[in-house]
Amino acid sequence: MKTKGVRNSHFPVIIFLMTFFVILLVGGIHTGIVTFFNETDWGSSLGGVAKTTIVICYWILIAGGFTVFTAWQIRKAYEIPMKELAKATDAVAHGDFSVYVPLLHTSENMDYLDVMIMDFNKMVEELGSVETLKTDFFSNVSHEMKTPLSVISNNAQLLLTKGDLSEEQQEAIEVILSYTRKMSDLITNILKMNRLEKQKIQPDQEIYDVCEQFCNCIVQFEEKWEAKQIELDIDIEDRVYVEADPSLLELVWNNLLSNAVKFTDQGGKITIKEVLEEQNVKFSVSDTGCGMDQTTINHIFDKFYQGDTSHATEGNGLGMALVLRILQLSGGDITVKSEVGAGSTFIVTLPGSSNNVLHDLQASDDLS
Ligand SMILES: Nc1ncnc2c1ncn2[C@@H]1O[C@H](COP(=O)(O)OP(=O)(O)OP(=O)(O)O)[C@@H](O)[C@H]1O
Ligand SMILES: [Mg+2]
Repeated sequence: MKTKGVRNSHFPVIIFLMTFFVILLVGGIHTGIVTFFNETDWGSSLGGVAKTTIVICYWILIAGGFTVFTAWQIRKAYEIPMKELAKATDAVAHGDFSVYVPLLHTSENMDYLDVMIMDFNKMVEELGSVETLKTDFFSNVSHEMKTPLSVISNNAQLLLTKGDLSEEQQEAIEVILSYTRKMSDLITNILKMNRLEKQKIQPDQEIYDVCEQFCNCIVQFEEKWEAKQIELDIDIEDRVYVEADPSLLELVWNNLLSNAVKFTDQGGKITIKEVLEEQNVKFSVSDTGCGMDQTTINHIFDKFYQGDTSHATEGNGLGMALVLRILQLSGGDITVKSEVGAGSTFIVTLPGSSNNVLHDLQASDDLS
């Protein structure tokens, strides 16, 4: 921390000196008013009530003036910079390392608040570079692992198709295959996350029927929900057009559905609803699964966070982080409601487009 040549107080001494002299001046004026009442003919002609009223009004004005001045000083000197710092801290807590808080004074006139802000900016910069290093490392390692993984997988597949294997050998190869698939999914998700975070993927917007896409995703999970005898209640319209990147939104629906199926026990229920609003369209996915406690809800969008350890082997905790990043890029939003033992509801809001084409498409579908 830089301390040399730094002012020890946030308020310059001149302010205290000024306050001292202003109070002296105000007291002097009060004595002057009283002397004026006693010594001049006009003053003596005033009644006692009038004199007291004038003195009271004088002190009300002075007290009001001081209060406003002090409040203004506190706001300017402390509240505004502290609010700015709080906003920046919040952004950093949510993973934004690009924030910068401007200093309050020039380098010759710095005080301890400027030093604190300078240290904060330096800390954020350091954190940002560590984060970049970490993600670059993950990305490079993941990329390098892709080729050996596919070689292992291809060779295991080859062995399996050869046929003359014992049951035990076949099982061993199937285990190898299932783990290589899991690792390859992890690598794909890490690379996707990295590309989304570095804005390398720019949403390829197009106008398409999101309901049809959602239904296709639901069908892909049929085997899994049927195996668990989960009841499915779907209430979505035939067609709703949105302007978004279909390949990215597909990841959102797939992860929400896979979580709902994964965290719902045998014989549970999943409800999918869609509501078309004036400005946007909302999709909700509710389940009667294990639900989440407050800690899990708070961390659900963190990378690699898995709240329910009993399902930790299925997946790697990147799904919801991807969902949030995609929705942020698409101008959408997601909210979570959950209760332990009762189930969870995820509501995705997608922005309606100002584009009239959507409404025309909607209207023509309604007529037909
Ligand atoms: N529908 C749900 N019910 C209960 N808990 C959930 C639900 N959806 C998510 N969670 C909790 O949030 C955590 C993070 O979810 P996320 O989708 O990011 O990871 P995952 O499903 O464990 O792995 P992945 O998505 O990478 O396959 C989960 O591990 C689980 O604890
Ligand atoms: Mg998931």
